[in-house]
Amino acid sequence: MQGINFIFIRMLPKVDPTKTQSWQKLSQHYQTWENLHLRRLFEEDPQRFERFKSAAAGWQVDLSKNLMTTETQELLLALARECQLPEAMEAQRKGDPINETEQRAVLHTALRDRSNKARVEGQEVRPAVKEVLEQMHDFSDLLISGNWKGYSGKTIKNVVNIGIGGSDLGPAMVYEALKPYRNHLHCYFVSNVDGQHLQDTLQGLPPEQTLFIIASKTFTTQETMTNAHSARAWFLRHSDAKETDVAKHFVAVSTNEEKVKEFGINPSNMFGFWDWVGGRYSVWSAIGLSLCCGLGFKNFEKLLRGAEAMDHHFYEAELEENVPVQLALLGIWYVNFWGARSEAMVPYNQHLHRLAAYFQQGNMESNGKRINRAGTPVSYATGPVVWGEPGTNGQHAFFQLLHQGTPFIPVDFIGTAFSAQETGDHQAKLLANLLAQSEALMRGKTPEEAAAELQEEGYSPALVDHLAPHKAFPGNRPSTTLLTDKLSPERLGSLLALYEHKIFVQGIIWNIYSFDQWGVELGKQLAKPLLSELQGKALHDHDSSTAGLLQMLRQWRADS
Ligand code: F6P
Repeated sequence: MQGINFIFIRMLPKVDPTKTQSWQKLSQHYQTWENLHLRRLFEEDPQRFERFKSAAAGWQVDLSKNLMTTETQELLLALARECQLPEAMEAQRKGDPINETEQRAVLHTALRDRSNKARVEGQEVRPAVKEVLEQMHDFSDLLISGNWKGYSGKTIKNVVNIGIGGSDLGPAMVYEALKPYRNHLHCYFVSNVDGQHLQDTLQGLPPEQTLFIIASKTFTTQETMTNAHSARAWFLRHSDAKETDVAKHFVAVSTNEEKVKEFGINPSNMFGFWDWVGGRYSVWSAIGLSLCCGLGFKNFEKLLRGAEAMDHHFYEAELEENVPVQLALLGIWYVNFWGARSEAMVPYNQHLHRLAAYFQQGNMESNGKRINRAGTPVSYATGPVVWGEPGTNGQHAFFQLLHQGTPFIPVDFIGTAFSAQETGDHQAKLLANLLAQSEALMRGKTPEEAAAELQEEGYSPALVDHLAPHKAFPGNRPSTTLLTDKLSPERLGSLLALYEHKIFVQGIIWNIYSFDQWGVELGKQLAKPLLSELQGKALHDHDSSTAGLLQMLRQWRADS
């Protein structure tokens, strides 16, 4: 944005959530929880599950194991209204430049919403979206059918996506999640500037049957451009291809045509998108090209349809029944009133093993902000750390802390009734574990129950006294369970859109800007002089730690 001037148009409400009546009421309401326990709430209300279950776009969502009563829910909804959430949703949907610090619209939803009439600067966006989708369709069909030939006349067998952050995490995660839908093309994802990532990936790949997708919104990202240049050098070094053959093996996905040309990729092999698609929300754009290749365009379209179904739910359902809104509000309740500093995403589906990593960027790059929309520091906590690993693996790693540790960590359990490939009784065991974990977190085990169990097992009274506190579980630890039938492209699409909307709602309530990411800039700036210093050039001024480490590395590398 350097050297660019724009008129700062204010689009979003600027309500300090702590100044609302609902916030005050929620603070008072929180005090009432001292005497409440989820176990008791379930005992007292046999309808609790019915009362707090929701559904959206093929997902059944059980909110009943959350620390809420109908009063909590009403107060949280009132908070959303006081923070003008419905107005903000409308502003986003119609294409207002709600990414105010960059004066951009936020329209990843337009990439999948066929009825969307969103306009940016007076122009409808859908026609351009459709054009690129057709280009992606044609290209991926050519590749899959074998009609796109490499320079030697052979068909392409391997597709290597080179990108980082949003230009990598989304496609890489979806490619894993939809493993059963893969075709004969093999997709690989290279992101890290650690040369080993590229080397390891290219090991054994035949250049004449390999196609590279250089995926970068800006086409200036150091990691991606370094990998792209090295990949081109590898291609030319390991084959008898000429410079002119590069066109058959390198295509680009970007918003920056000039830079794409500069790299040497013909703009006819460029798949465009727009500045109103944030990097971490770009899997629905041409950034999904590798998915069209590896899963087929039809499956990519189904992914979009699933997201579209969730968008309809988000924009049309009343706030009371709105699943993304409910999840977002519970998150606010836990972060701002219960002091949660992180939340865990635990999918009971191995194919979702990259989901938490994907939403780490989604959440933490969006809502990891400390300045509010009025430009002053917030006085309350905003985006939490998001993390997770698939169950049941997590149970044998970090669940101990979830059950008996001191931090307060709400959990989302995500499960599918069916596995893509049923294997004996594996799926039943997997699901039993999912249910058991959410039940255990909710119920806990009292010291009396722990003592009774020990007595029954024949322990001496002294040992019972000694062990019971260690074997007790406090319970009252919240979780949400999201279930669907199977992990199809549609269901995955709706799940991803659900969490995207959750992030949006939270950003509105926290009164922050969720769609910029200035926090990644300082490190990038400082890396530039350090690179030249590491390469032996003149040293600049640094603190003693950075200078000391730099010297150590310079020495090591000079000695080798
Ligand atoms: O990490 C900062 C960031 O700008 C992300 O927001 C983005 O997803 C990533 O870098 C990659 O950017 P690009 O697609 O422009 O290479």
